[in-house]
Amino acid sequence: MSIPSDEDPPSPTAGAGQNMWGGRFSAKPADLMQAINVSIGFDRRLAAQDLAGSRAHAAMLSSQGVISSADAEEIQRGLEAIEGEMAAGAFPFRDEYEDIHMNVEARLAELIGPTSGRLHTARSRNDQVALDFRLWVREACDRTVDQLVALQSALLAQAEAHAATLMPGFTHLQPAQPVTFGHHLMAYVEMFGRDAARFRDARARMNESPLGAAALAGSPFPIDRHAVAAALGFDRPTANSLDSVSSRDFALEALSAATIAATHLSRLAEEIVIWMTPQFGFINLTDAFTTGSSIMPQKRNPDAAELTRAKVGRVLGSFTTLAMVMKGLPLAYSKDMQEDKVPTFEAFDALQLCLAAMAGMVADLTPNTARMAAAAGAGFSTATDLADWLVRNLNLPFRQAHHVTGAAVKRAETLGVGLEDLPLSELQALDSRITEGVYEVLAPSASVASRMSYGGTAPDQVRAQIARWKELLR
Ligand code: ARG
Repeated sequence: MSIPSDEDPPSPTAGAGQNMWGGRFSAKPADLMQAINVSIGFDRRLAAQDLAGSRAHAAMLSSQGVISSADAEEIQRGLEAIEGEMAAGAFPFRDEYEDIHMNVEARLAELIGPTSGRLHTARSRNDQVALDFRLWVREACDRTVDQLVALQSALLAQAEAHAATLMPGFTHLQPAQPVTFGHHLMAYVEMFGRDAARFRDARARMNESPLGAAALAGSPFPIDRHAVAAALGFDRPTANSLDSVSSRDFALEALSAATIAATHLSRLAEEIVIWMTPQFGFINLTDAFTTGSSIMPQKRNPDAAELTRAKVGRVLGSFTTLAMVMKGLPLAYSKDMQEDKVPTFEAFDALQLCLAAMAGMVADLTPNTARMAAAAGAGFSTATDLADWLVRNLNLPFRQAHHVTGAAVKRAETLGVGLEDLPLSELQALDSRITEGVYEVLAPSASVASRMSYGGTAPDQVRAQIARWKELLR
């Protein structure tokens, strides 16, 4: 069994049983060789990108006089026919042609004959796959940004409806200070906004065309890489032919952005799971986003949130897989890089499903506002407000105010009441200067309304942030 180390120009007459690169080979590869080498099962997802690249390449070859315009027209007609076959689901994807590039070219040979062989002039599968994959990842980034914006819009709509809805804010998952539900949701709008920015940044960096690097060293033909780059929506061609065919950091960067976005999704998913428990009872999801149990008739489970919480593992796993594929690879192309696609496809499939499911859940959920408001006042959540009152009205140093408030909480705990129900005499026993006015800050709504600092939870601040985001997303 001999293994081709790099592609030779494919023979236009190659047919079934004869590999495209088979000019110097006299025997067919072993079945096992084909089994480990074949990628058409997954890289068929690059078909549209492959055809777009071939069309741009053929047009450039013709306008540069590398091939005749008659040949170029024939090639374009053939590629168009293939596009039609693909759209109709009639394209014959065949294992014996190994990958998407050779499947397209073999089919082109069947459709238009030997002229098809001129398409691969000044091109290699190395720059071809680098182009196709880059186009795919670029589109995946664009789709993901759109989905992140859709999720942000769903969050904004709920946040606007609940800008003043009280809920407990937590640290350590212990009641900390009252916040509003709108404020809590807007925290995720910020996170998903940064995620979208990361995908946009990655896209801008990857937006260079590798086509024309050929196998690794560039091409002796008078090609116009700038024209091809422009035709395919790239800002410019890549500047080093070795780097063009051997770098996959554009995919790693996209997967790293995907991993961070997936962790954000998992946090929101976890909160939905917690809020849905009868113990919390903060939100309800409808039948559309819950499932029942086959044995326990009372159950309503937030499966979509749980799966979103779990899928971050796949996405991070994909990043790890590709990082391991690329680690230690000498320049330029090695077949290892064929392993870049499956993890990347898998990660974006998972992420896009989770983004859609999360946008659906966010729109679907209804907060139980009475229950949230009651919880907002529980756990002495306005203790900090009492301390702040002592600082502002009695001019106590904050540390001392903290101490007095701790004593008040202890007393309230002993009496089994909330801070706002502690009799004034009890408070005055701790500091005789405390007046009735203190009760104005002990209600959760007052606490929330007082947090007017920029980015704070006061409903007016929350509404200002909602307005800013609506403007940004327009
Ligand atoms: N299927 C290959 C890949 O995905 C295409 C490039 C093959 N190049 C080569 N020299 N064998 O990486």
